[in-house]
Formats: sequence, C-alpha cells, structure tokens
Amino acid sequence: MNISNGLEDVYIKNTSITFIDGEKGILRYRGYDIHELAENCTFEEVAYLMIFGELPSRNELVSFSGTVQKSFSLPSYVLNVIDALPQDADILSVFETAFAAFSSEERNFSWSREATLAKAPEILGHAAAVLAAAYRHSQGLKYNPPPASDSYAKSFLSASFGAVPERKIVDAMNRSLVLYADHEVPASTTAALVASSTLSDMYSSIAAAVAALRGPLHGGAAEAAYRQFTEIGRAENTDEWFSKNIIQGKKRLMGFGHRVYRTYDPRMAIFKSMAASLAKDEEERNLLRIAERLERLGVEKFSPKGIYPNTDFYSGIAFRCIGFPVTMFTSLFALSRTAGWIAHMSEYVENGGRIMRPRAVYIGHGPRELPGEKAR
Ligand code: SDX
Repeated sequence: MNISNGLEDVYIKNTSITFIDGEKGILRYRGYDIHELAENCTFEEVAYLMIFGELPSRNELVSFSGTVQKSFSLPSYVLNVIDALPQDADILSVFETAFAAFSSEERNFSWSREATLAKAPEILGHAAAVLAAAYRHSQGLKYNPPPASDSYAKSFLSASFGAVPERKIVDAMNRSLVLYADHEVPASTTAALVASSTLSDMYSSIAAAVAALRGPLHGGAAEAAYRQFTEIGRAENTDEWFSKNIIQGKKRLMGFGHRVYRTYDPRMAIFKSMAASLAKDEEERNLLRIAERLERLGVEKFSPKGIYPNTDFYSGIAFRCIGFPVTMFTSLFALSRTAGWIAHMSEYVENGGRIMRPRAVYIGHGPRELPGEKAR
C-alpha cells in the first residue's frame, strides 16, 4: 500500500482556476500570468475572474463590488465576538473566530451556482470588515466599517488605519491581495475542500482553511521569515546567524522551499520589488538589506536541492511598509486567499465533487481479549 507522505503528488481534483509550473516558476490565474494581473488588475477583478471564470465587464464589476461593499457592515453579534476576546489575542484567531460566527446563520445553506453568486461577494466584504475590526481591536482603537470606495484595498486600509492612505500604499495592498489570491490546492485550500465536500457551508469551510493556514510551514511563514530578519538585527550579523542557526542548528530557513516550486516562486520577486520601492526609512531599508543577504546565503546553500525563496520571504517587509505589524501578516494572506478558497470550493462541489474520505493503513494490534480484571 503506497502511502503518500503529506499527500505529495496526489491529485484531488481537476481545476481551471490556477496553473503552476513548479519547474519554470510560472503561475497563472485562469490563463493570465501573475505578473500581468498584479500589475494591471484590481483584487475585485481578480476575485471575480477566479470565482466566475472571466474578467468582469464594467457593469459586472460595479454590481460585484457593490455587493462586496454592502457586506462591509457587520452584525453586532460578530462585533461582540471580537470585543469578547482579549486585546492581545492573536489577530488570526480573532479573525477566524469572528468570521466563523457567520456560520450560525447558515443552517439552510446549500451549494449551487446561485449560492456562490450571492455568497462570494458577501463573504469577501465580511472578511475585509472582520479583519479590519480585529486589527483595530488589537490596537485598542475604535472600529468603523470600511467606507465604500473605488477599491477593496482602499476600503480595507481606511477601516484598518482610520484614514485613507496614499495611493502607492493602496496600490501595494491591492497588488499583495492579487498575489496571495490563489495557489491551487495547498494545505489550507485542501482543508476548505474537505469541509465543503461534506456540503458544510462556506463560512465553516473557510474557517477550516484559516485554521490550516496558520501554521509556520504554510501561511505563518511570512511572519516567521520576518522574525528571522528582526532577530538578525543588522545585515553584518547575517552570515553568523545563518551559520549558527541554519547550517549548524539545522533550522529551516523560513520563507524558503516549496512543495511545488523547484525554482524561484514568481510572487517572491514582485513582493521584493514592492518592498524595495516602499521602504521609506532606515529601519525598513535595514530589513531589506538583511533579507537580501539571507536570500543570497539561502540560495547558495539550498538551490542545489531545488529550495528557493517563496512568496513569504519578502511579503512581510512589504506588509510592514504598508503599515501593518508582524502580527497581521498571516491574516492579510487569509483575507486575500478567501477568494481562492471560494473559487476552489464552488468548482469542486458544483462539479459533483464527492465527500473526501481517504483511508489509513492499519499497522496496530491484531484482535486481542481484554485483560482478566476487565473481562466481563
Ligand atoms: C506557502 O503549497 C503552497 O502553494 C503554499 C503557498 C500558497 O500560496 O498557498 O505557496 C504558501 O505556504 C509557501 C511555503 C511557506 N513555508 C515556509 O517558508 C516554511 C519553510 N519551508 C519548509 O518547511 C518547506 O519547504 C515547505 C513546508 C514549504 C515544503 O515542505 P515539503 O515539500 O514537505 O519538503 P520537506 O519538508 O519534506 O523537505 C524536503 C527536504 C528536507 O531535507 P532532507 O530531510 O530531505 O535532508 O528539504 C529540506 C528539508 O529539511 N527543506 C529545507 C527547507 N525546506 C525544505 N531545509 C531548510 N530550510 C527550508 N526552508
């Protein structure tokens, strides 16, 4: 019986959403290259493309964005869930808990194209509002719902920061949301597929995905990679840190390696150049110098094994330059990936995807009797 460790090379569905060539470092959403999408499209356009298969017409975009923005307002019970949690609670936990609370209204949810059409923009709107509220809660600041605007990124940032940021910051947030929007079926998307394959509702299935995303081997890596840079402190300390921790200490270099890519993750370079163009002060430039040095050391050491920097290596510095603390990085990944989770779940369930029920090879005891004193 061949067991695939970590489901490596196991194919669980057909998809028309995202194409990855791990050898050449190619990533496309619905056939469009990630570089083109990141440069020219809004997150709303990419989310629509991902979920419905084609880029929206002007009218389709207006209607979709309008529904998203209607869901920026949160029911009081969701805000009460956030307020009930400690201010220093992990922000992704707050997001996951408050977002999952919406499933309390989903008793009669049933999967269909119509359901997806209605739910997708609602969920994207709720996700932005919940995350902004969770962030404000963590900062001990009053929360106001994202204001309607011409951009999802701008509305989300305005609610998070309490003011409309400058254009280049909005553009960077939008580009980050496009870059993280989907990546085929990593652990978090697979968790969403397992949950939705039982016909559980969308909110519950996304909560399952968020739970899987948290780990430092997956979505938590952006935070873990950034914490390497702050631990190193100065670029001149990088070589010694690398030798002590990665070479001798055999620790994983966070933000490096990937199950699919055997070359550079195409998203990495886009985040790197974004961080370089946004770095405004000596602290951010110092972080970049450390990251660039660590990247060189990591590639030198690991590229012969096909281990290269991935999307999470520089994304944290970009998020920090946008204005968020390290405690928000994985949640920003989750906000963006909500689009991909919805797309893959609806693609799977609406195409008759069966309940996911793998097997395990039994290697335990054969049949045996209870010990004397227990035998009845
Ligand atoms: C994301 O899948 C996706 O698409 C995910 C993602 C997305 O958009 O959804 O792209 C986002 O999660 C990116 C990955 C972020 N994670 C990290 O940066 C954490 C560090 N990376 C690794 O732990 C690892 O590379 C994984 C988890 C990403 C992939 O793990 P695999 O494919 O299971 O590889 P493995 O753990 O079996 O390692 C194989 C070998 C091992 O060496 P040997 O035991 O064979 O000697 O490679 C080594 C590992 O020790 N290795 C590393 C390493 N990654 C793998 N060694 C040092 N540093 C690393 N980062």
